[in-house]
Amino acid sequence: MSEERKKLLEVTKLRKYFPVSAGFMKKSNVQAVQDVSLYIYEGETLGLVGESGCGKTTFGRTVLRLYEPTSGKIVYDGDTIYDSEKGVSANMLPYRRKMQLIFQDPSASLDPRMTVGEIVGEALDIHGLYPGKQERADRISELLTQVGLNSEHANRFPHEFSGGQQQRIGIARALAVEPQFIVCDEPISALDVSIQSQVVNMLEDLQHEIGLTYLFIAHDLSVVRHISNRIGVMYLGCLVELAESYELCAHPIHPYAQTLLSAVPLTDPEKNRHRQRILLQGDIPSPLNPPSGCRFHTRCPYATERCKEVMPELKEHSPGHYAACHMLEN
Ligand SMILES: Nc1ncnc2c1ncn2[C@@H]1O[C@H](COP(=O)(O)OP(=O)(O)OP(=O)(O)O)[C@@H](O)[C@H]1O
Ligand code: SF4
Ligand SMILES: [Mg+2]
Repeated sequence: MSEERKKLLEVTKLRKYFPVSAGFMKKSNVQAVQDVSLYIYEGETLGLVGESGCGKTTFGRTVLRLYEPTSGKIVYDGDTIYDSEKGVSANMLPYRRKMQLIFQDPSASLDPRMTVGEIVGEALDIHGLYPGKQERADRISELLTQVGLNSEHANRFPHEFSGGQQQRIGIARALAVEPQFIVCDEPISALDVSIQSQVVNMLEDLQHEIGLTYLFIAHDLSVVRHISNRIGVMYLGCLVELAESYELCAHPIHPYAQTLLSAVPLTDPEKNRHRQRILLQGDIPSPLNPPSGCRFHTRCPYATERCKEVMPELKEHSPGHYAACHMLEN
């Protein structure tokens, strides 16, 4: 009998709206994340992709409760840390150690006035870890070595490092508190292509060494397909498809995911030449005033009247393969 895998994170109908003023005395909401449900198994990497502005960062930060959710439920390692229906809003301090974030732009996320040792050490101090002077210094050296830097780097400032090294410092800071779960928000998109794979490989090695669980956010499917066990696709705040990486890349079933996949270059140049790229009509609509029903209906070649009126729910169409599309229900 196969053992049930442990779900480290379970998110149910998570919604995040940002209130904004829409002219004189008028208030409106940016509907950045719309009722997203997913779970992440312990030790896996879940990739999250979608166009700019579709809500990936907002989802990642709301899961960590760096943004307060508008509604929904978040269960982390069996503890309900947020449940709008039951009025649960847990104190996050004990979870901050376990749930960390790696940022897209390493230079902007590192305080230029602090040395690398101070940046990494600050994370230790906040949680009262390694309080002795020597053990603190040893721990900082150990962390820097773990991310491919060395102990002499502790006395230098962030601007003395390359983009890739700065991202390594950001990763050392996240690792300092011994987390279980890390939201990696486009951790390589600001880096030179030549060093992107080094950072991805390091994140994979760390995952195996320490047993980390990742939510790995990227624009680009070609980045996440190699690192992720499963991939979720977002469109305008909604999760439209979720499946095992191979399955999603080989057999996408949602019209939007099919479009995204058609833009990913194939390794075989011959196949690439003959492949048809699906081009979408129109721009991505505004999350301030998203389309009714299925949010993709204004650009979907298969849209029907029903699609304009009723938002499709994410349903399991084959084992582990979820999608939200009326067409698939017939
Ligand atoms: N603090 C905020 N206040 C108001 N609107 C916001 C805020 N943060 C994000 N948004 C809006 O929410 C939507 C989702 O933004 P988000 O940054 O989550 O997208 P993303 O998928 O991460 O995009 P990118 O790929 O460009 O990083 C966008 O329309 C954005 O303008
Ligand atoms: S629900 Fe309708 S509009 Fe939305 S993706 Fe499916 S067919 Fe297209
Ligand atoms: Mg983002």
